[in-house]
Amino acid sequence: MQILTTKAQLFAFQRTGSVGLVPTMGALHGGHASLVRRAREENDTVVVSVFVNPLQFDKLGDCEDYREYPRNLDADAAFLESLGVDAVFAPSPEEMYPNGQAIWVRTGRMGEGLEGVTRPGHFDGVATVVTKLFNLVRPDRAYFGQKDAQQVAIIRRMVADLDLPIDIVAVPIVRAADGLAESSRNQRLSPDERPQALQLSQALFALRDGATLDKARAMIDRLDYLVVVDPLTLNAVEPDQRPALALCAAWVGPVRLIDNLELS
Ligand code: PAJ
Repeated sequence: MQILTTKAQLFAFQRTGSVGLVPTMGALHGGHASLVRRAREENDTVVVSVFVNPLQFDKLGDCEDYREYPRNLDADAAFLESLGVDAVFAPSPEEMYPNGQAIWVRTGRMGEGLEGVTRPGHFDGVATVVTKLFNLVRPDRAYFGQKDAQQVAIIRRMVADLDLPIDIVAVPIVRAADGLAESSRNQRLSPDERPQALQLSQALFALRDGATLDKARAMIDRLDYLVVVDPLTLNAVEPDQRPALALCAAWVGPVRLIDNLELS
C-alpha cells in the first residue's frame, strides 16, 4: 500500500482498471471499514483519502472541534493496509488549499436545514472538498456511509447537477451490538455517557416500530432534532409517508451525535 501526501504523488500513482474512492477524515472504525470492503469488492484499485477538511468546520477550522478532531495516520494506515487498500491519499491542509479557497461548491437549501442549522457552511465545505478529491483521484465509484444521510443526499444531487461521471454508492450504517452507530466522536464519550448515547438509536427504532414522533422525541434528553423526511430531497414529510427517513441529532456530554433510520 502506498501513502501519498502530495497531489504530484497521487498523479504519479499507477492505477489499473476501475478505481473506487473512499473519502474519510481518518480516526477510522468499523463504519469506515465497511465502505472500504465494499470498494474493495467492486473495484480493481481502491484509494482512501484521509484528510480532516478545515473548510467543513466552524470558522474554516479555527475552532476547537477541528483542533480536537482525532488524528492518527499511522494507526489508520495500518488498518487500511489490513483491508487491502492500494493507496492512501493524506495531504496536509496546505497541500489541499495552497491558495486558500476562493471558489466553492454551494449546496443551497439542501445544506441549510438539519445539520446545516447548527453548522452553517458545513455542507459547502464538504461538497467543495469532495469535488476536489473527485478531480484529484478521478474515481469510477465513490463510497459514502448512510450514517451521514444528509451528506449522501447532497453528494448524489451534486454529481447529478454538475454532471460528474462518478457512481455514488451509499453503504448501510454500521452499529455496535447495543445499537449505537459507529462514529469517531464516540471516542469522546465517557463510559457513563454511553447509555445516554443509546437514546438516539432507541428513539429511531421506537419510531419505526410505531411510536409517535412526540413519544420518540421524548426519549432523547438533549435533543436537537428528530424529523421524518423524504430520503432524496430531505424535505419534511408526514410521519406516516413511505418511503421515509427518520433523522436525529442530540448532544451527549461534549459531543453532538447524529443517527438515522429508514422507515419502511
Ligand atoms: P468521516 O466522518 O470520516 O466519514 C467518512 C465516511 O464514513 C462517510 O461517508 C461516513 O458516512 C462514513 N461512516 C462513518 N460512520 C459510519 C457508520 N457507522 N456506518 C457507515 N458509514 C459510516 O464524512 C466525512 O468523513 C467527511 O465529511 C468527508 C466525506 C470525508 C469529506 O471531508
